[in-house]
Amino acid sequence: MTKVIVDGTDIVFECESGQTILESAKRAGYALPYSCRNGVCGSCKGVVKEGSIAFDREPGALTDEERSNGWTLFCQARAETDLTIQVTSIDRMNPDAVKKVRAKLYKLDRVSDDVSILSLRFPAGVRVKFKAGQYLNIQLRDGGFRSYSMASPSHQTDSVQLHVRHVTGGAFSSYLEETACVGDYLSIELPLGSFYLREISKPLLFVVSGTGFAPVKSIIETLMKSGFPSVPVYLYWGGRRKVDIYLASLAQKWASRFPNFTFVPVLSEEKNGVDREGLVHNAVMDDFASLENVDVYVCGVSAMVNAARKDFMQLRDLPGNSFYCDAFVMSSEL
Ligand code: FES
Repeated sequence: MTKVIVDGTDIVFECESGQTILESAKRAGYALPYSCRNGVCGSCKGVVKEGSIAFDREPGALTDEERSNGWTLFCQARAETDLTIQVTSIDRMNPDAVKKVRAKLYKLDRVSDDVSILSLRFPAGVRVKFKAGQYLNIQLRDGGFRSYSMASPSHQTDSVQLHVRHVTGGAFSSYLEETACVGDYLSIELPLGSFYLREISKPLLFVVSGTGFAPVKSIIETLMKSGFPSVPVYLYWGGRRKVDIYLASLAQKWASRFPNFTFVPVLSEEKNGVDREGLVHNAVMDDFASLENVDVYVCGVSAMVNAARKDFMQLRDLPGNSFYCDAFVMSSEL
């Protein structure tokens, strides 16, 4: 058993041999930021100031420069000795907060050729609290699970909405394509993840691709109920085609209602003479000379998330503690 000291705090937790630092923190009741838990997205990055660590496999989501400066991925690193680490954030977890429930599929809408919106209702009397932006796991018949962000606002506690992109051959996609019926029951576990809105003190920039819109919808609709912030709020939503921005009309409605809300759809393949063209994070790079005083929330495929993190920090001076992300990792990337 080794000991991990979190620099700048009074937090100390123990690591059992074979456990990652992320798992050990969780067992001790602390939440570190994470998303993929597979060394792909870089959400769990932090610095090892003292001590030595080992990996089952080399963490791919780190640059050579980060590695030489002591950065590591806490979802991959195991402590070989006592450690002192620096984290981007750490919160106390409520062990009773995560619930397992059987939820009823009560609405299923195909909103584009490859995206469905599912509405799940919890059993009578069951309410589940979550932070807007978090996700849930759906248990699959083969024992695996699929993760989807809640798209509904956090004040709606008796049901959740999910946005699911159909993946050819994917286990949950096949279920949706072939057998899913309104009235089905699904076993889910929630809430999970560290992608949620922090205290608002600066302009907010949301950068999403595809169904990465789901957690941002949850955040915006939660803010609409609790009091929309007075700071500028930007949503850049990227897709290959116009149809991939499947709720553009909703985002446009927000822009009409709130003068400080800006919606920028960006298409990487289709050219229609109206929408911006190119990669969504490049559109942000074109529009912002500096991101030094902005809080950035990025959600979508891991390639986009990693490119945004690297370019925003290296070329637009975004501080590391102002970048929050949730990366979708395909099974082929693991
Ligand atoms: S959570 Fe560690 S790299 Fe994604």
